[in-house]
Amino acid sequence: MIAAASTTDNFALTLEREGLIVLPGQPFVLTTDETDLVSPRFSDGQAKNISLAPSGVVRGAARDPTAQIRLAALMARYRAWAESLIKAEAPRYAPWLETGRTSLRTREVAEGSKSPRGDDRRLHIDAFASQPTGGRRILRVFTNINPAGEPRIWRMGEPFETHAHRWATRLRAPLPGEAWLLSRLGVTRATRTPYDTLMLGLHDASKLDVRYQREAPRREVAFPAGTSWIVYTDSTVHAAIRGQFCLEQTFYLPLEAMADPQAAPAWILERMVGRRLC
Ligand SMILES: [Fe+2]
Repeated sequence: MIAAASTTDNFALTLEREGLIVLPGQPFVLTTDETDLVSPRFSDGQAKNISLAPSGVVRGAARDPTAQIRLAALMARYRAWAESLIKAEAPRYAPWLETGRTSLRTREVAEGSKSPRGDDRRLHIDAFASQPTGGRRILRVFTNINPAGEPRIWRMGEPFETHAHRWATRLRAPLPGEAWLLSRLGVTRATRTPYDTLMLGLHDASKLDVRYQREAPRREVAFPAGTSWIVYTDSTVHAAIRGQFCLEQTFYLPLEAMADPQAAPAWILERMVGRRLC
């Protein structure tokens, strides 16, 4: 059953309806023992980020066991901080909060990516090809830990509903048996629902459209060093333009946890197409 929104849900309501909340001050601060980890030299040189899975596995880090243990400890500390932050600010989420990956991002965002689909400098909503959410929300907490005091620069685009309508005619329905096949082939870790197919369609359509990237409405937002921000990246059209050194924690939340389910992409897309998607 969906709990009705109450005054303790103001934070959740604002987050769900506006997509982004910037936290004042410097809520997460590195300890002196952690500052040397904020460097590209701990990367394996292949992966986009260094990450910590909920299982405790570190990926994307150089083969240095001592450094890997320290990196895991830093990311675990950030994960614990982000979890307590969300539970304190949005208590209704507490019983539902599913913890995803933690990442330490040491690449300069402006360098971009070789593949247009992987280029997060292009406006997009988040949808993961290998990790279907089945309608669950993607909530992410970020902190700019740039040691030189440089800001992280994002662009924020149009509201989700406008965005979805813009691409509606271009999105395809999944083929019969497609979800089963992708799962059997190991492409997806869970079955891809029609919702996931539509969300991936939105992600790709916007990133691959040069004219949209040039002309779409956007505003620039600067996150100063030390700042943390919380974003529903599945409903917020965004692009990371510039900046280096960031911590990020991903969470998943079911629709039942939402203070305003009607602001969720699944609800908006289902109303658009007139049928259940997940
Ligand atoms: Fe993104």
